Amino acid sequence: MKAIQIVDLTGPESALQLVEVPEPEPTHTLGGAGFDSGVVIDVHCAGVAFPELLQTRGEYQIKPPLPFVPGSEVSGVVRSAPAADGQSGLKAGDRVAAFCALGGFAETAVAPPFLTFALPAELDFAQGAGLILNYHTAYFSLVLRGRLRAGETVLVHGAAGGVGTAALQVAKGLGARTIAVVSSAAKQQVAEEAGADHVVRSDGLWKDQAKELSGGGVEVVFDPVGGSLFTDSLRSLREGGRLIVVGFAGGSIPEVKVNRLLLGNTEIIGAGWGGYAMSRPEVNLEIGAAINRMIEQGNVAPIVGERFPLERAADALRAIEERRATGKIVLDVRS
Ligand SMILES: NC(=O)c1ccc[n+]([C@@H]2O[C@H](COP(=O)([O-])OP(=O)(O)OC[C@H]3O[C@@H](n4cnc5c(N)ncnc54)[C@H](OP(=O)(O)O)[C@@H]3O)[C@@H](O)[C@H]2O)c1
Repeated sequence: MKAIQIVDLTGPESALQLVEVPEPEPTHTLGGAGFDSGVVIDVHCAGVAFPELLQTRGEYQIKPPLPFVPGSEVSGVVRSAPAADGQSGLKAGDRVAAFCALGGFAETAVAPPFLTFALPAELDFAQGAGLILNYHTAYFSLVLRGRLRAGETVLVHGAAGGVGTAALQVAKGLGARTIAVVSSAAKQQVAEEAGADHVVRSDGLWKDQAKELSGGGVEVVFDPVGGSLFTDSLRSLREGGRLIVVGFAGGSIPEVKVNRLLLGNTEIIGAGWGGYAMSRPEVNLEIGAAINRMIEQGNVAPIVGERFPLERAADALRAIEERRATGKIVLDVRS
């Protein structure tokens, strides 16, 4: 099969190679509980995200031996599913979206059954490749960690990005009001397309605007950016507010004087979806069902940004690196 491999750790320009490799075994590369028997998928689209960029430099926490095929999520058609898979009821021919952790930049990929979901008819394959990582992270962060409730207001940083657009839509599906923070007019349009109630600019007085729009402060901040925005994010919370730490796309890990939490009776909450989801199959099924309901209700429809053919995976990673990505960047693996 055709695949993209990471062959060294010199960054997206030079670390990727288009290769012909044998198809994967129907077992999952990570091994361990729940991964021994996998769903084999004929890949139509592969989602591209920050971890793949970091992997080209050896900077991601999962460091497989070289060379390896990156790609954490795919959409496509099931070729075979484990016979004993009573949970999901997947069978050959089903359209699916799947989180495979590795191996997605290829014509055939293998994913664990508990992270493989029937792709709703409302979504095409490109949208399916942007469904699991971003939307499960958004739901996990907002609901299971951030305790977001209907009627509350959530401020979303990096709101035109993959996980940001997902957070806007999931918050809407939960009945919350959203304030999107973005860095440009083009990204403002994307956040509006994703359903943001209000959009403010990160180069403007976003903290003051957020306080005004929310009548004194937001209940929740969803933060996949970190860096210099962090202290003002805390200041934009109302009493009892929660700041959810989702990522550090801005490049630096913020430090905080914890007296701010005491003064405002606020919380900072960490949300790491991957580690949590891998060891809890039942939570994934619960999140998948909740997201499907939001798709049916019309609140969730992944926003697909630039699309590249598989052989241009390096260009896709560069778009993320250069902060040009909007919505989900997707590789078309089969035309
Ligand atoms: N916790 C979890 O379980 C989990 C799961 C998935 C992803 N993540 C993390 O979430 C973060 C965002 O992922 P994503 O897929 O949404 O990325 P993305 O699509 O590239 O979006 C990131 C956004 O961050 C903003 N940003 C600010 N400074 C930036 C910089 N120096 N470089 C790039 N972007 C910058 C950009 O928005 P503006 O230009 O509008 O500021 C951009 O739209 C990553 O750190 C990722 O690792 C965490």
